[in-house]
Amino acid sequence: TKVLLSESLAVPGLPGLSSAPSSAELLRGKRVIVTGASSGIGEQMAYHLARMEAHLLLTARTEAKLQKVVERCLELGAASARYISGSMANASLPEEVLREAENTWGGLDMLILNHIGQSGFTFFSGDVGHVRSLMETNFVSYVALATAALPLLKESEGSIVVVSSIAGKIAGPFTASYSATKFALDGFFSSLRQELIIDKVNVSITLCILGYINTGKLSPEECALQIIRAGALRRRELRYPGPAIGSALLLHSLAPELLEALLRGSYRLENVRRT
Ligand SMILES: NC(=O)c1ccc[n+]([C@@H]2O[C@H](COP(=O)([O-])OP(=O)(O)OC[C@H]3O[C@@H](n4cnc5c(N)ncnc54)[C@H](OP(=O)(O)O)[C@@H]3O)[C@@H](O)[C@H]2O)c1
Ligand SMILES: *[C@@H]1O[C@H](CO)[C@@H](O)[C@H](O)[C@H]1NC(C)=O
Ligand SMILES: *[C@@H]1O[C@H](CO)[C@@H](O)[C@H](O)[C@H]1NC(C)=O
Repeated sequence: TKVLLSESLAVPGLPGLSSAPSSAELLRGKRVIVTGASSGIGEQMAYHLARMEAHLLLTARTEAKLQKVVERCLELGAASARYISGSMANASLPEEVLREAENTWGGLDMLILNHIGQSGFTFFSGDVGHVRSLMETNFVSYVALATAALPLLKESEGSIVVVSSIAGKIAGPFTASYSATKFALDGFFSSLRQELIIDKVNVSITLCILGYINTGKLSPEECALQIIRAGALRRRELRYPGPAIGSALLLHSLAPELLEALLRGSYRLENVRRT
């Protein structure tokens, strides 16, 4: 299959490649939660995990979409697939999702945090309420989900995967609220990772720094596979696409003002709304 073909390339730079388990092998029969799984990258992650024969618990707001994704996952070979619908702006959903995992599986191997609430590409409008609710959906719910999952992940020596963005490392214009929520994820989960190491808790945390995906060769499908691989291999960070993200981060550390000027210059201001 397509998954196995790209998996056979294994991990660059590691010795003994042929004997290294592929992420498909690492995920077979594992119990995985994917948030924001009704569309985009989350939906594609669900399909890859299904082909890898994982058990899936999917979540997002739109029940009708989740039903279709679950159906497709079962066709593709998922060991099992179910969903819970609801908004992550609702503070009781994270615990509800983890209760479902515990009740049906008695444990959990991987938590993939991927959902995001709506935010426009505009000048900051002064709407503080929107910032507050976006923080709740994009950040606080990630903390609540990880907190509720940790006891189960400790037991299974499992993994947390946090999907972030280049906007969570470098702040460009017109994404103030979104960027803030993604910076917050880096701060929280990078600190938590250190504490787990200090306490010798074997739960990995993978932070995914993604560039703009839906263009040209960068498909949500390939991106989804790279996220799953990075999580299964317990990587600290994934950069996708690696070279572009790497160059942006390097230039940002060497000449931040130059990079920011390039970013400002890359937009057609007449196309940006002021609300
Ligand atoms: N696509 C890119 O170019 C790109 C670039 C950098 C980073 N990323 C990151 O990649 C991740 C996935 O992005 P995507 O482009 O695949 O997004 P997407 O297609 O917009 O999907 C977002 C998912 O989140 C769900 N969602 C929206 N509001 C929600 C809420 N209030 N509560 C719970 N779930 C909610 C959506 O389903 P419902 O509407 O049914 O709830 C959907 O399943 C995000 O973390 C994003 O920041 C993406
Ligand atoms: C939040 O979720 C709980 C449990 O699913 C539900 O009973 C409650 O009505 C929801 N609250 C809101 C504001 O949607
Ligand atoms: C941590 O857990 C992984 C997955 O179970 C395992 O492969 C690895 O050997 C463990 N590391 C330590 C230090 O126990």
